[in-house]
Amino acid sequence: MQSKLALTVLGFGACAIAAPSKTIDERASTCTFTSVAQATASKTACKNIVLQGISVPAGETLDMTGLTTGTTVTFAGTTTFGYKEWAGPLISFSGKQITVNAASGAIIDGGGAQWWDGKGSNGGKEKPKFFYAHSLDSSTITGLSVKNTPVQAFSVQSDNLTLKDITIDNSAGDAAGGHNTDAFDVGNSDGVYIIGAKVQNQDDCLAVNSGSNIQFTGGSCSGGHGVSIGSVGGRSNNNVTNVYVADTAISNSQNGVRVKTVYNATGSVHNVTYTGITLSNITKYGVVVEQDYENGSPKGTPTTGVPITDLVLNGVTGSVASDATRVYILCGEGACSDWTWKDVTLTGGAASSKCTNIPSGASC
Ligand SMILES: *[C@@H]1O[C@H](CO)[C@@H](O)[C@H](O)[C@H]1NC(C)=O
Ligand SMILES: *[C@@H]1O[C@H](CO)[C@@H](O)[C@H](O)[C@H]1NC(C)=O
Ligand SMILES: *[C@@H]1O[C@H](CO)[C@@H](O)[C@H](O)[C@H]1NC(C)=O
Ligand SMILES: *[C@@H]1O[C@H](CO)[C@@H](O)[C@H](O)[C@H]1NC(C)=O
Ligand SMILES: *[C@@H]1O[C@H](CO)[C@@H](O)[C@H](O)[C@H]1NC(C)=O
Repeated sequence: MQSKLALTVLGFGACAIAAPSKTIDERASTCTFTSVAQATASKTACKNIVLQGISVPAGETLDMTGLTTGTTVTFAGTTTFGYKEWAGPLISFSGKQITVNAASGAIIDGGGAQWWDGKGSNGGKEKPKFFYAHSLDSSTITGLSVKNTPVQAFSVQSDNLTLKDITIDNSAGDAAGGHNTDAFDVGNSDGVYIIGAKVQNQDDCLAVNSGSNIQFTGGSCSGGHGVSIGSVGGRSNNNVTNVYVADTAISNSQNGVRVKTVYNATGSVHNVTYTGITLSNITKYGVVVEQDYENGSPKGTPTTGVPITDLVLNGVTGSVASDATRVYILCGEGACSDWTWKDVTLTGGAASSKCTNIPSGASC
């Protein structure tokens, strides 16, 4: 097939008069790639990259790692992926001062139904991770429209990364066996700003496992497990500090606000704020804080090695489903302190009779 690689070189006049002491950026202005092979071969030769309707072959990564500082990458048309059981990721980006965005109408379709078997990452088919933003620092991802990820969607391990107006629509997985389709998993990051996310999935809308200065604002989450910290513990980094979740609607989900730490692990959860959170049709817990997770399930007995301090809830309102519990707190003795809860006003469901070691400032 004819190569559609187009190198459009513009703006040479400006380069020609640049001071000789400066390095001249000789990259082409815009490159349009229609295959993974072109993109990986030539990605560092262009200032602006358009990924035009790429069909990513089975078992390959759309590998946009190692981009030159200041590169802009635009997804255009529909991006699709061949089927293979493997670990992925299907897409990977790294670099500094990178701008990732989408042309009007662009869709990234993970084709998840081919992998969905109701087992997620706990067995069955091996399912590829979707999008790695690892070492994508001082960068921005804007306006991506994603659907049907095989399992977890965005894995974020970056400093000062903004993810703005990202839509993740895994709603087809509700009836078709989508599972563990976390929208944003954040770890080992300092400065992550997730703004205006629209998520329909079958697991955490946000899960912060470690890191600092993480914000999730103006989002909507439906179908999943809530906006979560944790589970914290048992990894190489187990500290979560300065998290701000604001102005977010959580509906049709197992939980609303959730903080969970790992049984018998060490680490810390410090200065986490949820404000302006509205809940509707929450089927398990409106607000849940528990220090007893083991192998992904609550054990029922809390431990004290991952203290949760300065947990602020300011305006968590709305309703839970009739068989749900409004608030559940399971803390180890002395392991939860300096909490400030204001206007946590939930209707529906029932109160918990099992809350343990509730710190002053909160109530069950
Ligand atoms: C992130 O941004 C802050 C504020 O602009 C800056 O102080 C910090 O050095 C940046 N961190 C990294 C790792 O780039
Ligand atoms: C986590 O916090 C503990 C206690 O504050 C500290 O000793 C440790 O160095 C921190 N670890 C990381 C990876 O930041
Ligand atoms: C607590 O986190 C917030 C962000 O939610 C941040 O603005 C504030 O500076 C942090 N407080 C401290 C004492 O670090
Ligand atoms: C409530 O949420 C659950 C879980 O997502 C969903 O199955 C159910 O249809 C929702 N109920 C209503 C009335 O929307
Ligand atoms: C908890 O950790 C301690 C010390 O590492 C260990 O001795 C104990 O067996 C652990 N308990 C459980 C139930 O795993």
